[in-house]
Amino acid sequence: MKREIIITQDGSTSIYLPELNESYHSKFGAIQEAQHVFIKNGMDLFQLNDTIHILEIGFGTGLNAFITFLEASKRKQNIHYDGVEAYPVSIADAKQMNYVNELKASDFEAIFDKIHSTQWEQEIELTSFFSLTKRKQFFQELTDKEKFHLIYFDAFGFEVQPELWDETIFKIMFDALLPNGILVTYACRTSIKKAMLSVGFSVEKLPGAPGKREMLRAIKK
Ligand SMILES: C[S@@+](CC[C@H](N)C(=O)[O-])C[C@H]1O[C@@H](n2cnc3c(N)ncnc32)[C@H](O)[C@@H]1O
Repeated sequence: MKREIIITQDGSTSIYLPELNESYHSKFGAIQEAQHVFIKNGMDLFQLNDTIHILEIGFGTGLNAFITFLEASKRKQNIHYDGVEAYPVSIADAKQMNYVNELKASDFEAIFDKIHSTQWEQEIELTSFFSLTKRKQFFQELTDKEKFHLIYFDAFGFEVQPELWDETIFKIMFDALLPNGILVTYACRTSIKKAMLSVGFSVEKLPGAPGKREMLRAIKK
């Protein structure tokens, strides 16, 4: 599928798929969205001395993994990060993402490169506090049970892939979470909230990332 590099409104890059008319991130700002949805409303809920096991649904450009790494390195927090992706972004495309510059993270440029160059299906210690496992898999095939504290649910939008926002998928996510585990997503559609509720999640609406009204956070109570 053809991929075009675009600049979102906060100056950070994303990938746009013309055939689907869909981009990997919010056009209002890729970095702003990642920070708001996944860090502020996800990772920030944990205590500094917690070790967090994170599952990312849609590894894509590695932006969420990189931002999580940067936060973890500031906080000295232990993270095990699993990124699931069926259609990996090429290293050439990843190199065109401007996240290192936009996040003023030149000290960690080698880490961003390593996030993309490391082997799939292997747990890699990027540092002593952050391990990454990239998994080339379809979301529908996940069979993890009670393994994760936090899920970043970052699939393409409902308009493009409605089958990724139904009860079947959210049951897989519910099962993958530990008790009290949390799932955050940028989306906020009534049918999505209903699908989450029907598999047992408690769900709250939160203010959305810049340019978006609302987002959802689901908790496995
Ligand atoms: C919104 S993008 C993810 C953006 C990513 N989190 C980032 O920071 O760049 C959605 C991702 O899901 C992947 N994807 C789509 N359908 C999938 C499926 N059924 N199973 C696994 N990955 C899928 C796409 O290739 C794409 O990378």
